Order: sequence, then structure tokens, then C-alpha cells
Amino acid sequence: MFEDERLVVTSMSEEDAELEYNLRPRTLEEYIGQKNVKENLRIFMEAAKMRQEALDHVLLYGPPGLGKTTLAGIIAAEMGVNIRITSGPAIERAGDLASNLTNLNPREVLFIDEIHRLNSAVEEILYPAMEDFVLDIMLGKGPSARSIRLDLPRFTLVGATTRAGMLTGPLRDRFGIVFRLELYTVDELKQIVKRAARILDVKVDEGGATEIARRSRGTPRLANRYLKRVRDFAQVMADGVVTREIAAEGLNRLGVDVLGLDSVDQNILRTIIDKFGGGPVGLDTLSAATGEESGTIEDVCEPFLMQIGFMSRTPRGRIATRLAYEHFGLPYPERNDGAQMKLV
Ligand SMILES: Nc1ncnc2c1ncn2[C@@H]1O[C@H](COP(=O)(O)OP(=O)(O)O)[C@@H](O)[C@H]1O
Ligand SMILES: [Mg+2]
Repeated sequence: MFEDERLVVTSMSEEDAELEYNLRPRTLEEYIGQKNVKENLRIFMEAAKMRQEALDHVLLYGPPGLGKTTLAGIIAAEMGVNIRITSGPAIERAGDLASNLTNLNPREVLFIDEIHRLNSAVEEILYPAMEDFVLDIMLGKGPSARSIRLDLPRFTLVGATTRAGMLTGPLRDRFGIVFRLELYTVDELKQIVKRAARILDVKVDEGGATEIARRSRGTPRLANRYLKRVRDFAQVMADGVVTREIAAEGLNRLGVDVLGLDSVDQNILRTIIDKFGGGPVGLDTLSAATGEESGTIEDVCEPFLMQIGFMSRTPRGRIATRLAYEHFGLPYPERNDGAQMKLV
């Protein structure tokens, strides 16, 4: 399946990029949900401002589309400083990072998206920069090479990653503040849908907002994307108002089921059930059998499937739960191999 055919894929298309720019909350006040993160962040930022210091380095992790990039922008805005945005794969050589760092002004934010994808040569430069605000540069090669040390302004590194486990220990340890973003509740997603509807000037009633929120698998990016798609159905099929019926009809047609599962989630679950007797099945085997990238399975599908209790992880692999069987109207095989007992 092509990426752009999949509505649920939570990465960004160009169309999305523009939509997201317009819908992105600019202040902590506007940022819906993530109560714990907001409360702590507010205190840390307040304290740093009182001391007139840079905020400690912040690591944000969680599945795609939950608001990491948004939060990085908010941190800079609330601290009253500029943000410089880059990503792990974009920083190829140590020199690229060095130029990013030397261009920073005091207290500014350097945002590195997908920070787990930094190569090790670049990471080495980052350690002393984060810890001591210095940059060690090698001049020349061979026996005549020497290293010089440059002072950097005190800055804040904000790193984002889908899984904190993919970061090396030394890098993770250099973040003073670490936040895990949680999947959003239906109630929070409803607020996000209503906010987006106001900004995009879409009419959506209570039932419509609830239906979209319910099917957005805990992810604001999907809630916004679905609202936009469903609006088209409302215009053509009804009088422009997104009601529960319109939202349900529109999302059904897009292949998003009542719980927000799309064809890829269904494929994954059905493969575990039909080809592997419910599991356990290892990630790589599952990836080969479904044709889905293991990264997509692990970062996008699993967090949600586990949250709704459709999938479990055991030491021997993934299993489909009784709830998953019931969702597809299939009889649940009573097993005696103990796989279901060894939940982790
Ligand atoms: N807490 C939130 N409140 C309102 N909208 C949000 C929130 N978090 C994310 N969004 C919306 O979801 C979109 C995706 O968020 P983004 O920060 O790009 O996610 P991530 O970087 O984690 O993939 C944003 O453009 C924004 O419109
Ligand atoms: Mg992002």
C-alpha cells in the first residue's frame, strides 16, 4: 500500500503541513490536554524566566501526531525566544550541527526532530554542547591536527522522538526535562475538533465532533485531518453541517472503522489471527507477512492497538487478544500454550 493512500499514517503530506501550520496552537493556554506536561512545563519555564536563564534541555517522546513539534514551538514562544528547527536525518556531518549551534543566540531553542536518527559522530559533538555549552572542533588532519574549544551561548535543546528507547543512554541522560506525550481522550479530541472547526470555518455539531474524536485513535493530527475530509462529505451530501451521521458515513467510506482502525490496523490484526493463530508473532515476521514497515507497526499501530486492548506484547512476540477477535466477530481460540499468560 502506498503511504499517501493510508489516511491513518500519521506522518505529514504537503497539504497537511499547511493545514497543521494554521491549526497549530501558539501558546500553552491553547494547547489542549497533556495536563501533566503543561503543568510541569509552566513551572519550569516560569523558574527559568525568573532566573533569566535558558530552560533546561527538553526531550519529548510519543507516537506521531500528538503535538511534539507544536510543543517545541510553544516553548520558544513562551520563553520569548527564536526557534531553529532541524532534524536528525538533516544533520549529516558534525559541521552541520556546529553551524546550527554557533548561530544560536542566548536562550534560543534548537529543535531537533527525530533526534534518535542522529549519527554517532554528530552525537559526540552534541554531548559537550548540551552539558558544558562548548564546541570541540578538530582543525587539520593527521599528526598536525589539533582541537580548539569554542564557547556557546546557553541554549535549550528540544528533542523529539517517537520512542525514547531508541535514544542512546548518554544522549537521553543529558536532557534535564523528559516528557512522554499520551494519546488524547475522546473529550480532549472533541475540543481539538471544535477548535479546528472554528479556525477552518466548518460547521460541526456535538454528535459530529464526538464521532470524529472517537475515530481519531487518540491523535490530534488525525482528528484535524478527518474533520477536513468529512467537511467535503457534508458539503456534497448534506447542508454543510458535519453531524454524527455525516461523520460516520464519511469516515466509513474512507475505510476508518467505528474504533478508528483503518485497513493497515485491520491487516495487522487479521494477519496475527489468520496466519499465526493469534500469535505470538515477532515484529519482523509480522512486518514481512503484512508488507508494513516494522517502524510503522511499532510507532503508529501498536501504541493504539495496545491501548484499546486489541494487542499484547509477550516476550515471544505480539498476540491478538480476545477483544480483537470479538471486534471481527471471530470465535476466540482457547489456548493452552500459556502465551496469553505471559503478558509484559
Ligand atoms: N494539544 C493540542 N491541542 C490542539 N491541537 C493539537 C495539539 N497537539 C497537536 N495538535 C494538532 O495536531 C497537529 C500535529 O501536531 P504535531 O505537533 O505536528 O505532532 P508531532 O510533532 O508529535 O508529530 C498540529 O498541527 C496541531 O494542529
Ligand atoms: Mg513533529
